[in-house]
Amino acid sequence: MTAENPAQNAETTMILDGKAVASQIHSDLARGVQQLIAEGGRQPKLVAVLVGDNPASAAYVGSKARTCAKVGMAGETLRLSSDLTQESLESEIRRLNGDPEVDGILVQLPLPKHIDERRILELVAPEKDVDGFHPVNVGRLWTGEDCLAPATPSGIVEMLRRCDIPMAGRHAVIVGRSNIVGKPMAGLLLRESCTVTICHSRTRDLPAVCRNADILVAAVGRTAMVDASYVAEGAVVIDVGMNRVDDQDTVQRLYPDHEKRAALFAKKGYILTGDVDYHRVFDRASAITPVPGGVGPLTVAMVVANTLRASLRNQSRDIEIDL
Ligand SMILES: NC(=O)c1ccc[n+]([C@@H]2O[C@H](COP(=O)([O-])OP(=O)(O)OC[C@H]3O[C@@H](n4cnc5c(N)ncnc54)[C@H](OP(=O)(O)O)[C@@H]3O)[C@@H](O)[C@H]2O)c1
Repeated sequence: MTAENPAQNAETTMILDGKAVASQIHSDLARGVQQLIAEGGRQPKLVAVLVGDNPASAAYVGSKARTCAKVGMAGETLRLSSDLTQESLESEIRRLNGDPEVDGILVQLPLPKHIDERRILELVAPEKDVDGFHPVNVGRLWTGEDCLAPATPSGIVEMLRRCDIPMAGRHAVIVGRSNIVGKPMAGLLLRESCTVTICHSRTRDLPAVCRNADILVAAVGRTAMVDASYVAEGAVVIDVGMNRVDDQDTVQRLYPDHEKRAALFAKKGYILTGDVDYHRVFDRASAITPVPGGVGPLTVAMVVANTLRASLRNQSRDIEIDL
């Protein structure tokens, strides 16, 4: 397939455009912030804690700060040296917890090896935990209470909703059981009244289980593992995977005759791919997310959305946002 966007060749497969959905979410957030300020409220504020100088983490934190600015919120990055101690990081988190001007705290992972990551995440005040990783928020998600839920799976539900893809009563199969994606995805789809199956590396006959899915979510971290044999005709396919491929043979196999990808590979020495073999699955799916440009842009939008939600609660404001 030579076209950059195979939807141009297909009549029935909908491409779920994460950038377009993220941009709608940004507009809704900007409206919410404007109303909050017009009603005498304070500008919502997110603080991202960045320990060390991992370039991928710095880029990710930078995109959150830019999105905050875009929707009229304050987005700060607290940069800390990679050799700081557990005690000093804990004292920074306590300070942010106690700062009434800070609505959302995000600790960028991974943390250096000498830091007890779980302890840090559990120290973040649940009402400021915009990543939704604190056990209180995890528990509330599963008991159906109001909570801050992890951004990537929340973004997926938001995309399905905004693209008019029905969820209630449909069978969702999730491949992957991580705390960040797979498990909260299951909790959120259950809330939407899907019938949910969670798969993992020990699942027997994974392709057969996946072929039962009306909605198939791949969150595995293995390039193009989900091929056409995993997908029922007409399924909705959500690809969470974000994998770096740096060997030419794989690029050639996955994207034969694809000039843009080849050019990108020649320039950078790698390309990003998902867990789904997009071109081979495309014709079977009724809707599918591309990588990049599918799930990725929603993650950042939903962290910022969580910050606005946290701020409205913090400031005891009752403003409706369509999220
Ligand atoms: N787009 C975004 O914003 C975003 C956000 C987060 C993550 N991601 C990407 O999503 C992918 C998954 O991330 P993650 O953090 O959830 O990964 P993770 O913590 O490594 O979890 C991977 C899951 O996949 C399962 N798995 C691995 N190999 C398998 C196989 N052969 N068959 C069936 N299941 C298998 C594992 O099963 P076991 O539990 O049995 O080991 C595990 O539950 C990665 O590519 C990551 O980069 C993207």
